[in-house]
Amino acid sequence: MDFKDRVAVITGGSSGIGKAIAVDLAKEGATVILIARNKDKLKVTLEEIKKYSPNSIAASCDVTDTKKVANLVKVVNENFNAIDILINSAGFGLNGSFIENNIQGIRDQIEVNFFGTVNFCKEVSEVMVKQHSGYIVNISSVAGRVGFPNLSGYCASKFAVYGFSEVLYHELKPHNIKVSIVLPIATETNFFNNPSWDSFPHEERHKNILKPEEVSKAVLIGMKKENFEIVVPSKYKLKLIGKAILLPWALKYIQKLPK
Ligand SMILES: NC(=O)c1ccc[n+]([C@@H]2O[C@H](COP(=O)([O-])OP(=O)(O)OC[C@H]3O[C@@H](n4cnc5c(N)ncnc54)[C@H](OP(=O)(O)O)[C@@H]3O)[C@@H](O)[C@H]2O)c1
Repeated sequence: MDFKDRVAVITGGSSGIGKAIAVDLAKEGATVILIARNKDKLKVTLEEIKKYSPNSIAASCDVTDTKKVANLVKVVNENFNAIDILINSAGFGLNGSFIENNIQGIRDQIEVNFFGTVNFCKEVSEVMVKQHSGYIVNISSVAGRVGFPNLSGYCASKFAVYGFSEVLYHELKPHNIKVSIVLPIATETNFFNNPSWDSFPHEERHKNILKPEEVSKAVLIGMKKENFEIVVPSKYKLKLIGKAILLPWALKYIQKLPK
């Protein structure tokens, strides 16, 4: 896909992976619509984006607010006459044991990570079906294919995003709408600023932590090739295949990870 003059809606576009993708798409000539809740963070990111893409805008919206999402997508489509790309990056993760935590944290992660993605896919796919073109990219995680201890809610939300995206891949294909799913390993963003991660052994577990720019680069390459699954770094693809074949071994390996 050529990104020049495309209109790209990016949830979670104010920070981390979403921001890196927004910057790269803007550099390639796309007009970017940044979505997140915090207006100050959006303003700072938009200033950076406007250096490359002066018509880009930012809008404050909680991805869980279905009415606001519907209205926002309508307004964007009316003003820009198209939505060519949707990147669903808004999300968060809570670290903590299932036994010791209440269910609300799981509900909240499913609501933002899964239903936030569903909300935007629903509204934007309607626009894309009418256009008979478009590209939807959903950010899952390796935790959307592997169950890591202390991430029950997060893994559940990201496994759900994976399954949902695989179905959309098939259903939207006849409408000339492409769908990709992105599975990054740990990435250096504000994701880990949540206090639930304070006791996590970052030094031992995050030796190979990615920069958000590495994820973005892989996403743009994957989109150009129209790959359904974009694993970052790509060498982890083999590990995921290995996990599927060697589940008993994989379970033992994951048990031994520092917690
Ligand atoms: N960092 C990692 O290790 C890693 C690895 C694999 C996958 N991921 C996934 O990558 C995606 C981006 O995360 P990140 O690492 O870039 O973290 P981040 O730097 O914290 O960015 C998260 C973005 O999502 C927005 N957001 C959160 N909740 C929202 C809501 N309810 N409505 C609208 N926007 C919301 C945040 O802005 P506001 O708070 O202002 O709303 C922010 O722009 C997430 O889906 C995450 O699960 C991250």
